[in-house]
Amino acid sequence: MDDTQTFDVAVVGATGAVGEVIIPLLQERGFPLARLYPLASDRSVGNRVLFSGKYLSVGDTASFDFSQVQIVLLAAGAEVAAHYAPLAVEAGCVVIDSSACFRGDDDVPLVVPEVNATDVGYFSDRRIIASPNAVTIAMLVALKPIIDAVGIERINVATYQAVSGSGQAAVKTLAGQTVSLLNMRAVETASHDKQIAFNVLAQIGGVLDNGYTREEMEMVWESQKVLGDRGIVINPTAVRVPVFFGNSLALHIETKQKVTAEQARKLLKQAAGVELLDEVEYPSAVSEAAGDDAVFVGRVREDISHPQGLDMWVVADNVRKGAALNSVQIAEILVKDYL
Ligand code: A2P
Repeated sequence: MDDTQTFDVAVVGATGAVGEVIIPLLQERGFPLARLYPLASDRSVGNRVLFSGKYLSVGDTASFDFSQVQIVLLAAGAEVAAHYAPLAVEAGCVVIDSSACFRGDDDVPLVVPEVNATDVGYFSDRRIIASPNAVTIAMLVALKPIIDAVGIERINVATYQAVSGSGQAAVKTLAGQTVSLLNMRAVETASHDKQIAFNVLAQIGGVLDNGYTREEMEMVWESQKVLGDRGIVINPTAVRVPVFFGNSLALHIETKQKVTAEQARKLLKQAAGVELLDEVEYPSAVSEAAGDDAVFVGRVREDISHPQGLDMWVVADNVRKGAALNSVQIAEILVKDYL
């Protein structure tokens, strides 16, 4: 693009957890926008969103003419993506999707800008680019400097994931259950759901034949794809915790060559997108991650049970860096280098 070029952009899911963050990010980061079209379902028609000091009306995606825009940011879940991405591509757009819909497709690049920015260039096959799962993004941003320096053989990871990862309805559920319980009222849940308030749930998504959940296997498949390394082995446990915003990860890695905690800290300090807290401090989802762009790392230490083991604690805003910001960063690379 030349410096004066601007782009028309539609955000599908503008009223949702991720879309509500994408829109202010486009403004804050000075995205070269001509016109912005916030879109959602027919339920939201008539709602307004604030952009650059002006209110924009939310449009109905079903009746939107996608030929009016060059870029579509999809933030409305996999089903909506499966329906609208082909229509937008047909109308000539490039689609950036934050759902799981296209992440596994071989002809769709899956991008974490700090890790594999140049893969954006492969968008031209399908004109769709996918953004990974929030926990995959946080993990790979934190591990990239270690992978580049010494290589990683194996990753053991346990996640502690915020409810906003399943959208605004889940945020309301946690708030509602918390209020009910503090007022001595019983919590009602659907038959297959467990109470999330004041609880910890060791299952996110359905369980697959190998006993892992889909959320866990997404971390494996997506990491291998983003890193371009089908040989890296990953053993994840994904857990939902009663936190509104911010995912936490306990990472235990085995490196190909020994790296000391001090060397790892040095690498992390210089890494793109990473904020390292020093030896005695540790970041938390609410105090550091929520509302911030960075992936925070702390508790870096050598594993006493393995000669090439390294442990660290990682937190990131699941809605911001885990979805909205990652999509906007992809869009920035797309317009700067490829459109
Ligand atoms: P709406 O608010 O009109 O339902 P979240 O991830 O927080 O659950 O948000 C989902 C987002 O996806 C919302 O903006 C929601 O709009 C939007 N959405 C849901 N279903 C559709 C649909 N069929 N067409 C377009 N947007 C949809």
